[in-house]
Amino acid sequence: MAASGVLPTYQRYVNGVPVPAGRKTLRLREKYIILLVFATFGIVCFGAFFFLPNLQDRVTMVEVRKRFRDAGEGLFLPQQEGDSHEGKVIPRHDDDLVDPHKIDDKIRLQMNIEKDMANVKVKKELDKQGIKGEEVKKLQGNIQEDKDKILQKQKEEEEKKKLEEKQKALQVEQDHAGHVGAKGGEPQDSTAKEKRDTVRKMMKHAWDSYVKYAWGANELRPISRRGHSASIFGTMALGATIVDSVDTLFIMGLEEEYKKARDWIATNLSFEVSSELSVFETNIRFVGGLLAAYALTGDQMFKQKAANIADKLMPAFNTPTGIPYSMVNLKTGGTRNWGWASGGCSILSEFGSLHLEFYYLSAITGDKKYLEKVQKVRSVLNQLEKPSGLYPNYLNPKTGKWGQHHVSIGALGDSFYEYLLKSYLLSGKEDLEAKKMYDGAVTAMLDKMMQTSKSGMKYFAEYKSGRLEHKMDHLGCFSGGMLALGAKESDNETKYLKLGADIAHTCHESYDRTAVKLGPEAFRFDTTSEAVATRSNEKYYILRPEVVETHFYMWRLTKDQKYRDWAWEAVQALEKHSRTEGGYTGIRDVYQVVPQKDDVQQSFFMAETLKYLYLIFSDDDLIPLDKWVFNTEAHPFPVKGNHPASI
Ligand SMILES: *[C@@H]1O[C@H](CO)[C@@H](O)[C@H](O)[C@H]1NC(C)=O
Ligand SMILES: *[C@@H]1O[C@H](CO)[C@@H](O)[C@H](O)[C@H]1NC(C)=O
Repeated sequence: MAASGVLPTYQRYVNGVPVPAGRKTLRLREKYIILLVFATFGIVCFGAFFFLPNLQDRVTMVEVRKRFRDAGEGLFLPQQEGDSHEGKVIPRHDDDLVDPHKIDDKIRLQMNIEKDMANVKVKKELDKQGIKGEEVKKLQGNIQEDKDKILQKQKEEEEKKKLEEKQKALQVEQDHAGHVGAKGGEPQDSTAKEKRDTVRKMMKHAWDSYVKYAWGANELRPISRRGHSASIFGTMALGATIVDSVDTLFIMGLEEEYKKARDWIATNLSFEVSSELSVFETNIRFVGGLLAAYALTGDQMFKQKAANIADKLMPAFNTPTGIPYSMVNLKTGGTRNWGWASGGCSILSEFGSLHLEFYYLSAITGDKKYLEKVQKVRSVLNQLEKPSGLYPNYLNPKTGKWGQHHVSIGALGDSFYEYLLKSYLLSGKEDLEAKKMYDGAVTAMLDKMMQTSKSGMKYFAEYKSGRLEHKMDHLGCFSGGMLALGAKESDNETKYLKLGADIAHTCHESYDRTAVKLGPEAFRFDTTSEAVATRSNEKYYILRPEVVETHFYMWRLTKDQKYRDWAWEAVQALEKHSRTEGGYTGIRDVYQVVPQKDDVQQSFFMAETLKYLYLIFSDDDLIPLDKWVFNTEAHPFPVKGNHPASI
């Protein structure tokens, strides 16, 4: 840039003082200074030309802003690389805390930075290893795939192992089920053998008559020679006698007869009918009979049928308390209680006698739903307050409150107590709750209900709201066997064996004091008579098993010959008074020398009465009591851990 002629010609100042314009020529020093100023200006202009940004390119404002933003990351870097405060933004200025958006932005910024830095790190690391991003992704995918494959394989192997174990167990069941005390028991003693054969022939006669005159019906009318159905079986022919008898046929080695029963069950037994049934009776006879047949033979068909029928009973448990109703309609699943039961109550002996069957069914099917139902019933009973430690016969399934305070070891109570002891035994003595409840109930009943007659006979009276009725049912005679069976588990074995013997004696007396030597439905004790029925409607005998059942337990546990003798008396009386051409019948009045017959062969005659009689004259290795537990219909289930077909 040229300096000459550039300076303006208007008023000049030198050090703030106007310089007079009069002088036309400049002094040398002034010239020199002007030159210097021009030279400096020239240098500055020259420098600017080279060092300032290129303004000719007309940088737009957008670009400027962008550059600032890019620079921002560097400008706002809050923490140094490698700072230990991972993921946290530490505010550096107080005003950072004031504006949340600012913090938000900062967090995002921070996160981006960290992500980028992490990426860079990973990338560096991978570059070092010579692995590229795509490969990493693939590798990660492969690892996940391999993991899935391994898991899948593990799962498959586990299932295979489970199946193999199951099949092995099944094989064991089938190989051994018929052999652990399910058959045999041939007595050494020839007299016993003869008597046993007699019982076996009775069974054959009862069975053949049923087959001949009532096949497929629930029960047989031996005199009318036709089918019969009690109300407990509803209105349909369900072959109750077949299901109830099948295990006895098997135990007695009546093979052809067993096979016929088995085949009918496999092809004809069906609960897909419209009928209203007793939950209790269906459980102890049908479910119980099928479960025992399964346990004895290992035949899966029986197990399946038992589960199917138990499923039909499940609606009965749909109550507010879990205490089931007495009856269920197979078609509709509708439920109700007996009209005669106190205040719409369920019956203790009915809802309290489901445990063995449901427990065993859950064990062999692996389906816990059955066990859960009866455990609920158990826990309700356990938690309820018991008047004087006793369990009344009536319980309302809706309110969970007791009905009338009637207590009985006979009708309406009986098998509840039996199932407490037997649940404990069947569980391999694991069910301690059952044992405790059994001990408590028995102690209370011995205290409040056990009586001694004038002549010294022991009996359980009935307890009615604090008063005693000196009557004992035939049904209650099972209690001798129960007390004896529980003796070993008690605190005084001698005491309970003796009590069992006492009850056996009393019940035998009730037989011995009749004309036919078969006992009445109920017998009473008063000032003039002992162990006899005094009411006309209690004098019948309907082929019930409870007295010979107690003889069976007493024989097994004491080996006292008198129990075999008493059992034989019963056999002879049955042959004399109950046997007809068309099967066995009940008797209307046991005190008449030539009694009237009731014309019904009850299904429990073959299930229980004849089975216990047969076992009394067999050796103990047939259904040994340490390996089997009988349900209340005399159907044996294997004790846990003691049998291949158990749990
Ligand atoms: C059993 O089932 C078969 C075939 O369904 C039938 O023919 C037969 O009548 C049935 N028997 C009885 C006794 O119900
Ligand atoms: C067991 O009970 C009997 C009564 O039956 C009694 O004499 C005996 O002392 C009792 N034993 C023990 C150990 O309590």
